[in-house]
Amino acid sequence: PVTVYTTPAEASVAVAARIAHLIRDKQAKGETAVLGLATGVTPVRVYAELVRLHKEEDLSFKNVITFNLDEYYPMQPGAAQSYVRFMNEQLFDHIDIDRANIHIPDGTLAEGEIIDFCLNYERQIEELGGLDLQILGIGRTGHIGFNEPGSAPNSGTRLVTLDDMTRADAARDFGGKQNVPAKAITMGIGTIFKAREIILMAWNSKKAPIVKKAVEGDISSEVPATYLQLSDNVEFILDEPAASELT
Ligand code: F6R
Repeated sequence: PVTVYTTPAEASVAVAARIAHLIRDKQAKGETAVLGLATGVTPVRVYAELVRLHKEEDLSFKNVITFNLDEYYPMQPGAAQSYVRFMNEQLFDHIDIDRANIHIPDGTLAEGEIIDFCLNYERQIEELGGLDLQILGIGRTGHIGFNEPGSAPNSGTRLVTLDDMTRADAARDFGGKQNVPAKAITMGIGTIFKAREIILMAWNSKKAPIVKKAVEGDISSEVPATYLQLSDNVEFILDEPAASELT
């Protein structure tokens, strides 16, 4: 299903409310909530609202375990563009989550350590019973996580090469495309697909053409987000400009 909100702010508050509901529901049952998280511009207001809910409405994250979708490779956690730093600044530094419950692909691994790390990332998710909720943005290439065109529908967490358009879109953060890492470690399409609930968010008319392809286009590895059409557990949450090309 597709839900369209007038503004990203309204949509973000609605997504945060769903996350909060899941967390509280699990708390009431004495269970943990396993969340798949995204970085980038799109989820920033969702995290701000979760921080507000923590500070003003007693939402606790003590029973929350998180797995981030991706990280550039190589990347030092303290670097300005690192997703570790992004998550700390936008969310983790402001809530009561146990640091041991935070998982983000490690951009500091030696090449030879990556395969084991990725298999272990999958295993950790599985041992917790899978992701309860995965939130996603979408790149202009149609990527979810950093699953670029050509990604297989059953792909798992792995090292990937970033698409040229993705590196161009990241150029501003890195002070030029030449400084954007060529690679990233990302959860796979298969990893994402196993989540019990998936919310893909997109704002802004810049995303309208790729949103149209993702929601209405032929299912193909050329636009990895089209695989989401095959799941009954996916909701596309859009603002009006991002939805403007949908029929
Ligand atoms: C981020 C991620 C990416 C972004 C996508 C959109 O963890 O996995 O797929 O969601 O590149 O980025 P923004 O939100 O910056 O437009």
